[in-house]
Amino acid sequence: MTPNPNSEADSSAGIAQTLTKPPKERMAMMSISLPSDFESTSKTKLAESSSGKFFTQNNPKLVPSFDRGVIVEGGQVRGDELTVGKILGTGAFCEVREISAITLQRLPEAPDHFEATESFIPQHKRLSTTSVEGGNDSHEVDEAGFPVNGIFTTKEQIRKYMSTYCLRRGDDEEDKELHARYALKQLKVTDDEKKIRQGLIDLSIEAQFLACLNHPNIIKMRGLAGKPFSPDFGIVLDRLYMTLEDKIDFWKEEKKNALGKSLCGCLGIGLDKVTRDGLKFQAIAVAYDLSCAMRYIAGHNLVYRDTKPQNAGFDVRGDVKLFDFGFIKELTKNLYDKDSGQYNLTPHTGSMPYMSPEVLTGKPYGKPSDVFSFGVLLWEMFHQKFAFYHFDRRDYVDVVVRRNYRPPIDHSLPIMIRTIIKESWDEDPAKRPTFERIAILLKAEYQAMASGAMLGHSERLIDKSARSFRAHLRNADERLNEAIGEAI
Ligand SMILES: Nc1ncnc2c1ncn2[C@@H]1O[C@H](COP(=O)(O)OP(=O)(O)OP(=O)(O)O)[C@@H](O)[C@H]1O
Ligand SMILES: [Mg+2]
Repeated sequence: MTPNPNSEADSSAGIAQTLTKPPKERMAMMSISLPSDFESTSKTKLAESSSGKFFTQNNPKLVPSFDRGVIVEGGQVRGDELTVGKILGTGAFCEVREISAITLQRLPEAPDHFEATESFIPQHKRLSTTSVEGGNDSHEVDEAGFPVNGIFTTKEQIRKYMSTYCLRRGDDEEDKELHARYALKQLKVTDDEKKIRQGLIDLSIEAQFLACLNHPNIIKMRGLAGKPFSPDFGIVLDRLYMTLEDKIDFWKEEKKNALGKSLCGCLGIGLDKVTRDGLKFQAIAVAYDLSCAMRYIAGHNLVYRDTKPQNAGFDVRGDVKLFDFGFIKELTKNLYDKDSGQYNLTPHTGSMPYMSPEVLTGKPYGKPSDVFSFGVLLWEMFHQKFAFYHFDRRDYVDVVVRRNYRPPIDHSLPIMIRTIIKESWDEDPAKRPTFERIAILLKAEYQAMASGAMLGHSERLIDKSARSFRAHLRNADERLNEAIGEAI
């Protein structure tokens, strides 16, 4: 395989000099000793969560493991195949960093690392090869650096490949930097043992599902890192460049700018409407892609349980991807509640302003709850605001759940969009549409807009908007660096 000229990572370079040790606080967390039965109880929980049909019907992908350093005598950390860079984002439990180099410490022919990671994969399953159609020797790669026409048959091959193609050059002429292709999601540093135990189980369940999920609008997990069931455990994901929350902010800014210009004189007249239409078109495209991801999840009898703009992001090509699968659950027969036709699942799961009334009030729930959250997300995408801004828990229960309040829907939105939003957040779960219906309606709206006269004059603006979106990405990166610099 020819080394990628874009990559700075040299897997054969002297290891000791190139390694970046995990920061002190993480080392301290890594040395926390968890209860001796933690590993066995976690494995039981993992086995339970993978006992349904989803895992018998979907082959896990070939997922390699990477060393995150081991603690040796004197508390020193020896070795670390992953060099991590800046923080890309943090959630309630985890932090995500870019991977700036992968420095392999074993020869390619050495056996795969960490047999223990097999415990993430249901035992009865054979690992499927990570394949990309074809099988010839082409070196063409997809957005994550994988061969378009190649098949990986061993984990070591994938490790070598990822190490070589770990960085990519920017697409824009002005952008001379190398960018990380992968990101590492690990627990946030904490000394709260309970949080560590819960976080590790959630992250392991996430890894288990991601190994079997396969959809173009769902984030791809490319590897596992560190020792399973220990605080240095992590998952290697494709790196995303912006969350949907950031994108909504960006749309808001674009709309404001266009309005400003249209008020500034005759040259700007009409610009506001054209920009609004262009932005609506972008939002419909993103909404459609996300509805396809949700349709895929619901089609496998799974509930995602954490739909929100912070859990969707955009890859290097600008395609939207759903991520953060810590709360995903299979709706198995033993959880079914005959009276309600829903399932007995943990209440209050997810993020409050997107939670359906039945999740918040502890009733049985299921797929319609994901639809409710999707409805709130759609409202936010098309209004560029938080639907329940300034609502604390009590307000939400009182106003949204008890009094059935929903924010007004903009009359200038296409009727199809208004209908989907209205139906999706119906208080009665049985009246909400399925993701199948939502995807069909969004596709129809997308096609109508794409073929309509409107696009003729706004195409140029959509292009312009995409260009300024890329510039905005770079600015966002710079702002983040500054903020981190200030915080340190
Ligand atoms: N693959 C990725 N590439 C870039 N940034 C990412 C990636 N995955 C996650 N992030 C960033 O990190 C943040 C936290 O990630 P994630 O939502 O997976 O963590 P979490 O702790 O499970 O979150 P939550 O608070 O929703 O439970 C995201 O909101 C996003 O900003
Ligand atoms: Mg999240």
